[in-house]
Amino acid sequence: MIREKLKIIPEPVKASLNDGVFFLSQKTTIQADLTSAGNGEYLKQVLAIQYGLNLAFEESSQDNEGKSSIILKTSNEKDLNNSEKYSLLISKENIIISATSSVGVFYGIQTLLQLIPHKTLKDDKISLEVSIPCVSIEDFPRFKWRGFMLDESRHFFGKEQVKKILDLMALLKLNTFHWHLTDDQGWRIEIKKYPLLTEIGSKREGTITSNRFLRSNQKIKAPKDEIPILGCYTQQDLRELIQYATERFITIIPELDFPGHTTSVLAAYPELSCTGGPFKVSTRFGIHKDVLCIGKEKVFEFIQNVLDEIIEIFPSNIIHIGGDEAPNRRWKKCFDCQARIKDESLGSVENLQGYFTNRITDYLGSKGKRIIGWNEILNDDLIDNALCQYWINHFDKVLEHIRKGRQVVMSEMKALYFDYPYRLIPLHQTYNYDPIPSNLEEKFHKNILGLEACLWTEYVKNKDKLEWLTFPRLIAVAETGWTPKNKRNFESFLKRLERFLPLLSALDVNYPKKEEFLQEQ
Ligand code: ACM
Ligand code: ZN
Repeated sequence: MIREKLKIIPEPVKASLNDGVFFLSQKTTIQADLTSAGNGEYLKQVLAIQYGLNLAFEESSQDNEGKSSIILKTSNEKDLNNSEKYSLLISKENIIISATSSVGVFYGIQTLLQLIPHKTLKDDKISLEVSIPCVSIEDFPRFKWRGFMLDESRHFFGKEQVKKILDLMALLKLNTFHWHLTDDQGWRIEIKKYPLLTEIGSKREGTITSNRFLRSNQKIKAPKDEIPILGCYTQQDLRELIQYATERFITIIPELDFPGHTTSVLAAYPELSCTGGPFKVSTRFGIHKDVLCIGKEKVFEFIQNVLDEIIEIFPSNIIHIGGDEAPNRRWKKCFDCQARIKDESLGSVENLQGYFTNRITDYLGSKGKRIIGWNEILNDDLIDNALCQYWINHFDKVLEHIRKGRQVVMSEMKALYFDYPYRLIPLHQTYNYDPIPSNLEEKFHKNILGLEACLWTEYVKNKDKLEWLTFPRLIAVAETGWTPKNKRNFESFLKRLERFLPLLSALDVNYPKKEEFLQEQ
């Protein structure tokens, strides 16, 4: 099979292997038209860092197709259907990557990089001639949304690790980095108007050491370590990382989780709660009963001010507002929340979160932004263009949302939650998951924007564990997001993975042994 010879992940839509090879050497030049210049610089950089090749780079017109060149061409024709499409043609004379837009050229480069033999990486890099097979590839993604979520509230990994993840995502043609930046256990972004969010909210004094107590009787005290966990990103850091992601055609979607999962906010500003506090940044996990008060106007003022700074920094059209696991226990007893229910004729406490979600959605809408929230935001009155991220329960409501013509991103917990060990979610379970439910009528398939894997980090204390849980499962997700369903095949994937894993090693990524990630099938 050609595909097991080429070993590209995600498997391209169409690939054929031709006779001969292209010799990549120090004499090869990179030629790019004006629109592809950024991509040309990027390719030059990667070849230098990873392969020790220092190629000449020139901007050139399209009719100057020199010998032994890598030629990057962007036609700039509008292709509204699939702007990520590219073609890659490798002949004995040259390599041509063409696309209608820069992102397509970028993905063509990623495919090319996978065709360069890895043995040249790192140790024995420099100036040897490397042969690349002659191929013709036509390729485009199945889904628009191919994502990965990292929780940096529970543990903080920092800029260098985020850059490494963005690099790996680019290699896999993943395009959406969902960044869970706030939760009960830590607020991780500087907000100039509310300095206590980071001064107080980004520090916790320790962490429970076992999840055995999570759903059991809370009166039993869970053991806790005394290791402080702290860290946050300045707005300058955020801008730097957004720039880094943008150069890799990755959109960063920040998540600020409201109205639940907000103990770190309440520790800093207890007046935003129903009871007035006091509170501490939480050292345990699970659902917390103290949440933002929906009766108090100052809570909306706070959220709007925070969002004003967020949309100033993040160019993404979509902002994640969380919305998961918000219990209404406090709202039931709160004078202000009860007054809100009455004044807005909401009928019952069950409708308070819907009111909250719609107000935030409207506010962001007035700024030209759209919201996404976990599937708990779904309610009968939800504003039309709100996007839903499915993770657990109430799938009937999610289907109803889709059948109303609205959009979802799929993060099915049983396949795409990477905090679960391989024993519970082995690689084939992730690979075989399809984002389109089998009982969904074809006319609604387009409402499923794609899929996103999530790494929650309650028990992920360091980067080694982060990578170990993420790889190779994220590679499987990348293939599901990109490759046509009828070309996906787990056996073939495993064969191609044999070549991908050494690349991960060369890139200093920690991942488990095959026996671990395959488990029982
Ligand atoms: C979630 O896992 N609480 C969205
Ligand atoms: Zn209240």
